[in-house]
Amino acid sequence: MKQPLLLKTLLIILLVAIFSISCEKKSSQPETTQKSTSDKIKIGVYYPLTGDIATFGQFGKKGVEMAVAEVNAQGGLLGRQIEAIYEDTRGQQQDSTIAVQKLIDKDKVVAVLGESASTNSLAGGAVCQEKKIPMITPSSTNPTVTQIGDYIFRICFLDDFQGEVMARFAVNTLKAKRVAVLYDNGSDYSIGLDEFFSATLKKLGGEIVAKEAYQKADVDFSAQLTKIKGSKPDAIYVPGYYTQVGQIAQQTRKLGMTIPILGADGWDSPSLIEIGKEALNGCYFSNHYNVEDPDPRVSKFVGEFKTKYNSTPDTTAGLAYDATYILFAAIKKANSTESKAIRDAISETKNYPGITGDISISKERNAIKSAVIVGIEKGRYVVKEKMSPIDQNVAENK
Ligand code: PHE
Repeated sequence: MKQPLLLKTLLIILLVAIFSISCEKKSSQPETTQKSTSDKIKIGVYYPLTGDIATFGQFGKKGVEMAVAEVNAQGGLLGRQIEAIYEDTRGQQQDSTIAVQKLIDKDKVVAVLGESASTNSLAGGAVCQEKKIPMITPSSTNPTVTQIGDYIFRICFLDDFQGEVMARFAVNTLKAKRVAVLYDNGSDYSIGLDEFFSATLKKLGGEIVAKEAYQKADVDFSAQLTKIKGSKPDAIYVPGYYTQVGQIAQQTRKLGMTIPILGADGWDSPSLIEIGKEALNGCYFSNHYNVEDPDPRVSKFVGEFKTKYNSTPDTTAGLAYDATYILFAAIKKANSTESKAIRDAISETKNYPGITGDISISKERNAIKSAVIVGIEKGRYVVKEKMSPIDQNVAENK
């Protein structure tokens, strides 16, 4: 009785082994076919390619495209070529959610780059976090964006820093203590900047003499500007995007106010001066880097960008270029396209020599970088001051 039992057991073990091997083969088959049809590493990019902040997306896309082309020409990553898939958000929150869902679920991207506007990155970032796909926003500065969760990164400074920088410039350099604020109350970016700017201004002995709001669909700002005029400010802070800023500048001058208008990075666009024209002379905004910086890293990028696209790169282009390279460095370091491995590698980024400055990722998944104050003189940008986070004693450095 003993022997047949042993034989039976051995036979069963053998059959189970053969069965499981054949199952494994079957289940691994579709994977192999999938790999051979798409051996490119896919990254998703969502940007406002149309709409009232379209230059952010158009220039950001160029920055990504340039980095992708350079790396592909050098053989790609992990022996594979990179394919960037671009989705247009039209500058809208809802479209941003849909764009990121499509990139992850349908295109199966391994990581996501975008958006520019904070409100849209908040929408897309929620999707990336839920699906555990790493996202790097090149340019969304509102602090809450990276607070979404551990898959969401940024490579630019934050609005608490940017707002503080401009308040210091207003009080210390311009001697403007009585400041009015006109902000977009549908934009997380604008709402945050109003708060940060106003807090520092008051801390420095200044006063917010009027606070008025607009919405991005508005074209007539005269009611708000008339009230602001009545408060007799030394300057007006408008932390908005270029389309409305250009119109606001025009209407401010029409009402006879010649005081400086102050703003932030959302002003930066090749279309700003086209819309605001001479009304913008004597105005100032905070920004990420200076395209005329003699640093060879910057001049090489600017030169190559001009050759490729026949236009000067703006802030969004530089930030997008840096964000793309940081993602590529992470994929290389991870030696994998697995999302958790890429996430971990991004979080370990230290002293990456970007064209917008050196980039290290903090525990909070942010970058701590300098800002420049740009003045507009005869329709041209002139860098007035460079402010480093150490001098400013911002939140993360305290
Ligand atoms: N910082 C802006 C935001 O968070 C976007 C922006 C960055 C626009 C840089 C232009 C240039 O909404």
